Amino acid sequence: MDILVTGGAGFIGGHLAERFARNGHDVVVLDNFDPYYDRRLKEHNVEVGRESAADGDGSYRLVEGDVRDDQLIAELVADADYVYHQAAQAGVRADIEPRKYHTVNVDGTLNVLEAARRSDIERIVFASSSSVYGNARYLPYDEEHPTTPVSPYGASKLAAERYAMVYSDRYDIPVVSLRYFTVYGPRMRPNMAISNFVSRCMNGEPPVIYGDGSKTRDFTYIEDILDANLALLGEDAADGEVVNIGSSDTISIEQLAETVRDAVAPDLELVYTEGYDIDAEHTHAGIEKAHDLIGYEPSRTIEAGVAEFIEWYRANREWYEPLVCGE
Ligand SMILES: NC(=O)c1ccc[n+]([C@@H]2O[C@H](COP(=O)([O-])OP(=O)(O)OC[C@H]3O[C@@H](n4cnc5c(N)ncnc54)[C@H](O)[C@@H]3O)[C@@H](O)[C@H]2O)c1
Repeated sequence: MDILVTGGAGFIGGHLAERFARNGHDVVVLDNFDPYYDRRLKEHNVEVGRESAADGDGSYRLVEGDVRDDQLIAELVADADYVYHQAAQAGVRADIEPRKYHTVNVDGTLNVLEAARRSDIERIVFASSSSVYGNARYLPYDEEHPTTPVSPYGASKLAAERYAMVYSDRYDIPVVSLRYFTVYGPRMRPNMAISNFVSRCMNGEPPVIYGDGSKTRDFTYIEDILDANLALLGEDAADGEVVNIGSSDTISIEQLAETVRDAVAPDLELVYTEGYDIDAEHTHAGIEKAHDLIGYEPSRTIEAGVAEFIEWYRANREWYEPLVCGE
C-alpha cells in the first residue's frame, strides 16, 4: 500500500510511519520540520522510520514540504492509497498566533481534501482532537457531545473535521476523523505535562503544576493510537464518522505529578504556579463508538502507561532529554 503520512516527522506521525514501513508498506512522509520544537527530535523520528523500512519489507521516503503548498499536496495525494493526515500546529498554547492554527490546520486539511477529490484515494484518516469539545456539559464525552472549543487550536481542528465530513458526504471521499485525547509515550513532544514532569523529576527539580492541579485528563498511550489508525487500513465501518480515541481512564494533573514524583524522586515537593485558562477543565473519552466500529480497546491504564514511559525515558535519556529540555 502507498501511504502518505503528513506530519510524519512528528511524534504521532513518526510512530505511524515507522509501523507502516515495518509492516511492508511504501511510506511517504511529508513534514516541514516546523520549529515549534527541536528539529533534532523530528530528525530522530525520520531515522527510526528509515531503519524500520530497512528492517521490514516496506520503503520510506521523506519529502520536506508544507501542507499549505496545494500543488505539492496534489502531487503526493495523487500517488497515495491512504493519507494519514497528522500535520498540524499541535498543542493548545497561548503564545501561538491563532492565524497559524488556521492556516496550517484548516487550509492544510482543505488542501488534502481537495487533492483527494481529484484522485482515487482509499481513505483519509484525519488527526482530530478532544479539544473540539471545549468545556464538558457531561462526562465522558461521547461523539454527540456539543462542540464548543475554548481555544483557537480546538476551533481549527473542529473546522477541519467539519470540512472532512462535508467532503465525505458530498464528494464520497472516505474520511475518518479520530479525536485523540492527549497522547503520550516514547518520543513524545516536549512541553506536555507528562514529559515535563518526568524531565524535571529526573533532574531533581520539582514538577510544576499550572493552576491547582484539579483539571483532569484522559491520557492515551501511543500504542493505542497506533492500533486505532492501523485498524482503518482495512476497515470501512468508520468512513464519514468522527470517533473518540482515548484511554477512558482519567487522572488529575496533581495526581499525575504525584505519580511521576513518587516513581522518580519521592523526596520532591510539588510546585504550583498560575494556570492557563485556554484549556478545557476536564477531558474523558467515551470510546463505545470506537469499540463498535473498529474494535478499539485501550491497552493500558494511565498509571501503567506512565510507568512504561518513565522506563523508556530512563533507557533513552541520553539522547532524548537534551532535545526536550532545550539544551
Ligand atoms: N499529541 C497529542 O496529544 C494530540 C492530541 C490530539 C490531537 N493531536 C493531533 O495529532 C497530530 C499529531 O500530533 P503530534 O503530537 O504528533 O504533534 P507534532 O507536532 O509532534 O507533529 C506534527 C508534525 O506536523 C509538522 N507540521 C507542522 N506544520 C506543518 C506544515 N505546515 N506542513 C507540514 N508539516 C507540518 C510538524 O513539523 C510536526 O512534525 C496533530 O494533528 C495534532 O493536532 C495530537
